[in-house]
Amino acid sequence: MIKDKLVFEYIEKEKIRQTQGIELIASENYVSEQVMAAAGSVLTNKYAEGLPGKRYYGGCEIVDEIEDVARNRLKKLFDANWVNVQPHSGAQANAAVMLGILNPGDKILGFDLAHGGHLTHGSSVNFSGKIYSSCFYGVKKNNGLLDYNQLEKVAFKEKPKLIICGASSYSRDWDYKKIREIADSVSAIVLADIAHPSGLIARGLLNDPLDHCHIVTSTTHKTLRGPRGGIIMMRNDYDNPLGTKSPKGNLKSLSSVLDSAVFPGTQGGPLEHIIAAKAISFEEALSDNYMQYILQVKKNAKMMAKCLIEKGYNIISNGTENHLMLIDLSNKDITGKVAENTLGKADITINKNMVPFDKESPFITSGMRIGSAAITTRGMKEKEMKKVVFYVDEVLKNRNNEKIIREIKKEINKWMVDYPLFK
Ligand SMILES: Cc1ncc(COP(=O)(O)O)c(C=O)c1O
Repeated sequence: MIKDKLVFEYIEKEKIRQTQGIELIASENYVSEQVMAAAGSVLTNKYAEGLPGKRYYGGCEIVDEIEDVARNRLKKLFDANWVNVQPHSGAQANAAVMLGILNPGDKILGFDLAHGGHLTHGSSVNFSGKIYSSCFYGVKKNNGLLDYNQLEKVAFKEKPKLIICGASSYSRDWDYKKIREIADSVSAIVLADIAHPSGLIARGLLNDPLDHCHIVTSTTHKTLRGPRGGIIMMRNDYDNPLGTKSPKGNLKSLSSVLDSAVFPGTQGGPLEHIIAAKAISFEEALSDNYMQYILQVKKNAKMMAKCLIEKGYNIISNGTENHLMLIDLSNKDITGKVAENTLGKADITINKNMVPFDKESPFITSGMRIGSAAITTRGMKEKEMKKVVFYVDEVLKNRNNEKIIREIKKEINKWMVDYPLFK
C-alpha cells in the first residue's frame, strides 16, 4: 500500500501518545480492534441515503443488512422499540430531535452548561440556543445536586415545549420519573441525552430513561465504547407534537418524524462504515465481558473519588454514581487550565471544566473533569486507581518543579506498558 508518509507518521505518533499516557478524559475510550477495523473498512465508499429497504441509491443490499443488524442490536441493548443509528454524532442526534419536534423560536429547558449540561442543550453559542429560545435549571449551591425544585419552577414559569435532561459533567443519577411528571404538567416533551452514562444505563447500573422520557439520544463513543457517533431511541412511539402529516394526509408518528429529521432533515448519506462499527460495539456491550468492564468502570470511579477526597480534593456533590467526577480546584489554589497543562506534561490527560457558579471564564475554569472509562479498558482496577490519584496529586503539588514532573512522566510511560491497548 502507498502511504501518505506525513499523515501516517502523525497517526503513529498519536497512537504512541494514546498508549503511553493515562487517559482520564471522561468522554473518551479505546475501541476494540474489530470496531476499529469496521470503521476503516470499504463501507466508507458507499452512499446509502434513506433507511434500509428505502434508499435513494442502488447497491445498498449489503449495507441494508448491516444497518438492520445495528438497529436490532441497539433495540436489544436498551430494550427500545424504535431506534435510528444514523446520526453522525451526539450533537447531530440532538439537532435532529429538535428539528423534528420544535418550530424555530420554541422554548426549550435544559441543564445549564456551566453546571454540567451540554452546548446542544440551549447554549447561546450553539444552534440550540440560536434557533430556539432557551432557559435553564442547575444544581444546588450547597451540595452540587440537581435542583428539581428549580427545574419545576422554571418549567411552570416558562412553559417549555421541550425539557432536556442529561449532562456532560454531572456525577449523579437522574430522577427521570420526576422530570416526566413535571413535563406532563406543562405538556412538554422530555429528551434524555445519555451521551455519557449510556453504557452504565444499558447494563442496568443507573436509572433507565427509556421508561419515562419520550426520546433518548446518546453518543456511541464514551462509556458505550463504540466508534464516534450518535443514536436516537424510543421505547414507545407517540403522535408527533407538530402534527406533521404525510403526503396522504395521515398524521405521522413521532418515530417517522425523527427518521425524517435525521435524513433529509439534518444529514445526507449515513456513514455505513461507522454504522457497522456501531453494530459490533452494541454486540460487545451485550456481552458478559462488557458487563464486567462497566461494573469495573463504576467501581474505579468510586475509588478515584474516595482517594481524591482523602487528599483534600473537593468533588462536586461529594462523590460519583457513574464513570466521572467534577473537581473544584479552588481550595488547591490552581485553575483548571493550569491543571490541564501541568498534568499533560506528565502524560496524564484531563480536561479543564467549569464548576457550578464558577468565577473563572470557560477558557480558564476552576475545575477539572476526570473519568474512569478509558483506563478501565486498559485493564486497570481499584488498586491502580490509588496510584493514578497519587500521580495526579504529585504532579499538581509539584506544578512548579519541571524535574519532578519529568520523572513522574517517565514512571507513567513505563507503567503504562503493562496496560496494552489491545490484549
Ligand atoms: C451530554 C452530551 N451530549 C452531546 C454531546 C455531543 O456529542 P458529539 O461530540 O458526538 O457531537 C456530548 C459530547 O461530549 C455530551 O456530553
